[in-house]
Amino acid sequence: MLLLCLESSCDETAAAVVRDGRQVLSNVIASQVDVHARYGGVVPELASRKHLEAIPVVTEQALEQAGVGFGDIEGLAVTRGPGLIGALLVGLSAGKAMAYARRIPWVGVHHIEGHALAIELEQEVAYPFLALIVSGGHTHLYRIGGVGDYQTLGCTRDDAAGEAFDKVAKLLGLGYPGGAVIDRLAAEGDPHRIKFPRPLMHQDNLDFSFSGIKTAVLNYVKKQNGPIEGEHLRDLAAGFQQAVVEVLTAKALKALRGADLQRLVVAGGVACNRGLRAVLHGAAKGEGFEVYFPSPLLCTDNAGMLAVPGDYYLSRGAGSAFDLNAVASWPL
Ligand code: KG4
Ligand code: ZN
Repeated sequence: MLLLCLESSCDETAAAVVRDGRQVLSNVIASQVDVHARYGGVVPELASRKHLEAIPVVTEQALEQAGVGFGDIEGLAVTRGPGLIGALLVGLSAGKAMAYARRIPWVGVHHIEGHALAIELEQEVAYPFLALIVSGGHTHLYRIGGVGDYQTLGCTRDDAAGEAFDKVAKLLGLGYPGGAVIDRLAAEGDPHRIKFPRPLMHQDNLDFSFSGIKTAVLNYVKKQNGPIEGEHLRDLAAGFQQAVVEVLTAKALKALRGADLQRLVVAGGVACNRGLRAVLHGAAKGEGFEVYFPSPLLCTDNAGMLAVPGDYYLSRGAGSAFDLNAVASWPL
């Protein structure tokens, strides 16, 4: 089945063409980062307007890059939620209109389901596996038993991991979004010079809490007499990143042991983080677990990831009806 996939849950407008839920023919992403950067975060109303402009453009690019016409598309997979409601509605309405015009089936997909299964576009990972989803809005551990078989094992009680990266970057004057900038600075810093707390790390649960680390960084910054620059800034970034990475690693390993799982898949924007990749790889391998990270393009928001669940549902006749609505807050 040749699927067109559309994603518009936050500040990326994305379209992809994927064959049989596995072969990515195109995966186009139009980022709105420049639009929102000057406000230090995503402005929902601006995001909706930009999606409206970008959806036809990315759709045409995705079809062109895939070398197919709109008439060749046999079904659509569109993000239904969770995310910004106005942003979601743009993609969902566009998807419905295309499906209606062509009389082809379509399905509304959970954004996190896409993140968790994106790895399958690159390699097969046998079920069941543990998924650690770390993005700007999520820090969740799920047991993935198969497509549609998800069990939440743990999640954050306050900020998401990516949110912590973004807030710390903002208070250090590093711009928005800040994850990749901190990652770059941290690579050249000393992670042991400035110590930050590791909230809940040794508690016997699979929950996370990142707002305390962010506050600890804020308090540290307030205590300094002058601006934090050069080596000092690199060490601060490395110390903060190390705290987040150690907590994520400890809880992921606890979940693998506790749920008797062998395989770990890490996805979401923060899965691009080089520190997390290195530490998690080493720690999990040391205990005999297999760890899988999708390539960076498939870690961050993209439309291709919707094809894995989308193809599964549509090829079983489990498409959506036209009265299906977008959902801003939607547990997996
Ligand atoms: O999955 P994603 O693209 O969008 C959401 O669904 O949220 O994730 C975006 C998040 C942002 O918070 C961004 O700062 C973070 O992922 N991020 C990173 C890195 N690249 C992106 N965080 C840490 N290190 C990175 N290299
Ligand atoms: Zn996402």
